[in-house]
Amino acid sequence: MKRILITLLLVAVSHTLEAQDTKNLKILSFKTKKEVMDFMKKNIAPSLGVKCAYCHNVRDFPSDENKHKEITRQMMIMTQNINKNTLNPLAYEPVTCWTCHRGNIYPPRSKDDKKKGHEH
Ligand code: HEC
Ligand code: HEC
Repeated sequence: MKRILITLLLVAVSHTLEAQDTKNLKILSFKTKKEVMDFMKKNIAPSLGVKCAYCHNVRDFPSDENKHKEITRQMMIMTQNINKNTLNPLAYEPVTCWTCHRGNIYPPRSKDDKKKGHEH
């Protein structure tokens, strides 16, 4: 009996630790920090052609001090809405950050638009 209780306690503790692994996710539904890091490395950063530091204080990833991080949250909401409300009901493939950005901070507007990273 005692052994079972200890096992249950350990399971509960490890679940709590896992749940607290990410600290400040408002949009993404990943459970672990590793899942978020993988997504950022493979998807977000290459879609814009930037490093982590473009959006983060890399010594404090949960911090919201960088304004590009909040803009990115709005972009995530927009992308989710396009997929959920328009493309999904049509049974079309979802769009991603890459669909528009193609490795640029600012998506090129035309073939002649060679300006990179114009300021706002
Ligand atoms: C274009 C902006 C952008 C870039 C580049 C980016 N991130 Fe993020 N990152 C975000 C946003 C936005 C969130 C919060 C998402 C949310 O609220 O659901 C986030 C969340 C995270 C978190 C979760 C922190 C927490 O516990 O709340 C980690 C860890 C993280 N990023 C790591 C990285 C790493 C590592 C890189 C580089 C490979 C990177 N990010 C590049 C925008 C970015
Ligand atoms: C439907 C097209 C589209 C999609 C999808 C899209 N974006 Fe954007 N994004 C834009 C446009 C357009 C701008 C503004 C460009 C301009 O004004 O020159 C922009 C601007 C941004 C900026 C602002 C740069 C700055 O800080 O000034 C960030 C960051 C960004 N997008 C990240 C993302 C991320 C991350 C995703 C995927 C979750 C994403 N975007 C998906 C079209 C898109």
